[in-house]
Amino acid sequence: MGQSPVFENLIITGLRGVGKTVLLETLRPLARAGDWLWVGADLSESASLREDHLAVRLCTDLAPLTSGFVVGTERRKEPGFGGQDFTVGQRLDYQTLRRLYQESPGLALDRLKTVLQATWTVVSGAPSPPRGIVFAYDEAQNLSDQAQHEEFPVALLLDSFQSLQRQGLPLMLVLVGLPTLFPKLVASRTYAERMFRVRFLDRLSEEESAEAILKPVADARCPLRLTGDSVRTIVQMSGGYPYFIQFICREVYDVFTQRADRGETASVPVAEIEQKLDADFFSGRWSRLTDRQRDLLWVIAHLDQSDSEFSVRDIVQGSAALSKPFSASHINQMLLNLAAQGLVFKNRYGRYSFAVPLLDRFIRRQTVAAEG
Ligand SMILES: Nc1ncnc2c1ncn2[C@@H]1O[C@H](COP(=O)(O)OP(=O)(O)OP(=O)(O)O)[C@@H](O)[C@H]1O
Ligand SMILES: [Mg+2]
Repeated sequence: MGQSPVFENLIITGLRGVGKTVLLETLRPLARAGDWLWVGADLSESASLREDHLAVRLCTDLAPLTSGFVVGTERRKEPGFGGQDFTVGQRLDYQTLRRLYQESPGLALDRLKTVLQATWTVVSGAPSPPRGIVFAYDEAQNLSDQAQHEEFPVALLLDSFQSLQRQGLPLMLVLVGLPTLFPKLVASRTYAERMFRVRFLDRLSEEESAEAILKPVADARCPLRLTGDSVRTIVQMSGGYPYFIQFICREVYDVFTQRADRGETASVPVAEIEQKLDADFFSGRWSRLTDRQRDLLWVIAHLDQSDSEFSVRDIVQGSAALSKPFSASHINQMLLNLAAQGLVFKNRYGRYSFAVPLLDRFIRRQTVAAEG
């Protein structure tokens, strides 16, 4: 955050539950300490966000920062004053920002830039001005250009920040989201490739996982004692994903403390926890798929490299033994749909991965259950 005036916009990306939001929240106090203002929001509900909505979103986020500033005077006529004009200080509040956007001349891009420029002019004129403003958006993979509706909110966001940053305005973007996010930005504007530093959060290593399991229960007053075997089991089951570590440890904590109350020792109830995880985390996603999609995912889950990257060719080979094998073009088409449903994603080298952590293990458990 010590950067000025050269900026690096940041992308924090990774699978569900690897700790992106937690990391983002740790950046906020760092930014504040470095005299950066911080605005932001969660874009979970923004799948069909249009350009105008994006601008409104930015106005909404900026208004709390700017509404204290008087930017001019405004003449008003109100009945209480006998119909006479009177002058009030005009604040750069939400209404004013929005009006600025709506009434400025030009395209959406020009108007949004006008709003951001006005904001920075006002904010930087304060007695002890900040170094800049960070715009932090979580779940940003939900932003989408929609060519069929001629709505390009992703392009609008990138174009406006790129252009203002070139002019030297210290406005920085931090976008957080699933691995589909960065490819989406690059598909909208190729220069996005150079505009962001990308931090891909991967699963925790075995040592880090063990630490995440043991640290919360290290306090001497904590009744839970875990053996090395139990820790190894939890590490293995969690695949190093913090969300799963937490989920499993919550269950383990309940079981172990109950057993300890009865004077018994306990081991990690693997099958029960997996069942609960399947019901809570995976089965909703699975139930929305067609039979043919499940067949395809079954093939992928049984590839050697199912937990890393796989190609269309790998899947063609893997499906050769099926009674109805998949053709390469059919696989391509189905992967597109599965990507839109958030189950797989394509990386920049054209290879695919599961977008849901440990989905391959879940699928293998399903088939065992079905056969058993
Ligand atoms: N470094 C870490 N060590 C231990 N636990 C963590 C760590 N980071 C995150 N967690 C825990 O893991 C869970 C998932 O974290 P978080 O919500 O940040 O993931 P996320 O990547 O934002 O997931 P999603 O894609 O679903 O939004 C949280 O409950 C959090 O407390
Ligand atoms: Mg999150």
